[in-house]
Amino acid sequence: QTAARELVERHIATIPDFPEPGIVFRDLTPVFADGPAFHTLSESLTAPFAGEFDVLAGVEARGFLLAAAASALCGAGVLPVRKAGKLPREVLREEYALEYGTAALEVHVDALPAGSRVLIVDDVLATGGTVGAAARLVQRAGWHVAGISVAVELDDLGGRAALVEEFGDEFRVFSLLQY
Ligand code: PRP
Ligand code: HPA
Repeated sequence: QTAARELVERHIATIPDFPEPGIVFRDLTPVFADGPAFHTLSESLTAPFAGEFDVLAGVEARGFLLAAAASALCGAGVLPVRKAGKLPREVLREEYALEYGTAALEVHVDALPAGSRVLIVDDVLATGGTVGAAARLVQRAGWHVAGISVAVELDDLGGRAALVEEFGDEFRVFSLLQY
């Protein structure tokens, strides 16, 4: 995965003090804009979990792009994990804290068959609040978390440790790049 890592890393933009002073923002929009880099990233996120998942969960909004692209490559379906208030039928909701602000995520209770193996994908693992909430939703719905896979892990924000504290070794957390 060294070549994949280098290709993706070349397209990540780093913006100091966005959206607030003190936050160093890693922006993946240039990765999405480059066909080969986006294709490579999408493949890289699912490869470590080959044969271990049935569905890709993408977290709104940037996770949608990755889940959809990876779905087209590997043939798995997509579970949209949405910000609160968007889904029209009965939902489960999980609140979470962000690096900046708070929010809630929802899934339809009946989105998938019981026991479905769900790989959660997102662009950035920061505090882990977002993917942690997504994992709780998957478990509460009666599905199985096959793993968490992200493009970028921000080491200083402790997301991996928070996930291990909450979920132990129930599933693996993969990141292509670490900062
Ligand atoms: C960003 C990012 C991750 C999350 C990471 O999404 O895309 O989902 O924050 O932070 P955490 O690990 O501290 O939870 P954001 O909520 O800004 O939403 P967006 O994708 O709609 O821009
Ligand atoms: N980049 C992108 N998304 C984020 C970040 C970041 O640095 N921190 C929290 N969400």
